[in-house]
Amino acid sequence: MRRAVVPGSYDPVTYGHVDIFKRAARLFDELIVAIGHNPSKAGASSRLFSVDERLELIRESVREVRNVRVESFTGLLTDYCTSIDAVALVKGVRGVTDFEYEMPMAGMNAHLTGVETIFIPTAAQWSFVSSSLVKEVASMGGDVSGLVPAHVAHALAEKVRP
Ligand code: PNS
Repeated sequence: MRRAVVPGSYDPVTYGHVDIFKRAARLFDELIVAIGHNPSKAGASSRLFSVDERLELIRESVREVRNVRVESFTGLLTDYCTSIDAVALVKGVRGVTDFEYEMPMAGMNAHLTGVETIFIPTAAQWSFVSSSLVKEVASMGGDVSGLVPAHVAHALAEKVRP
């Protein structure tokens, strides 16, 4: 059983994430989409969606993918990988900025446990999509329906409703 983890904040999940989940799921026996959250960490309180809401939004997005599970973790990602016997981390990379951000984390995670990081290039179609931009556009009444699954667009509209 080769298990991989695709970690992130997913606040909220986008079509860019879902594309990575589907492509990564073909490479491993099991893929765990894992929401990393540390309640005491700066920024944790600024999330738009709670962890439970994010879990549900992701689960609905990958319902048809047989070998994907959705979970959350606290603490070190490498400890979580060890606890579930995951051999690899998967990260989607939109461009050089993502790559520069991810490289030190990949190095640190390999140093801590030897877990490998697999980078998957984001599909060109989703290269400009990020959770933060989607939230900004939605909060100002912009149309995000082509960027996130329909149920996520609906949840965003509910959240930002005045
Ligand atoms: O979507 P994000 O915000 O880029 O995801 C970041 C995440 C959750 C992958 C990262 O913050 C993380 O790995 N957090 C767990 C704490 C940890 O292991 N930190 C050391 C990373 S080298």
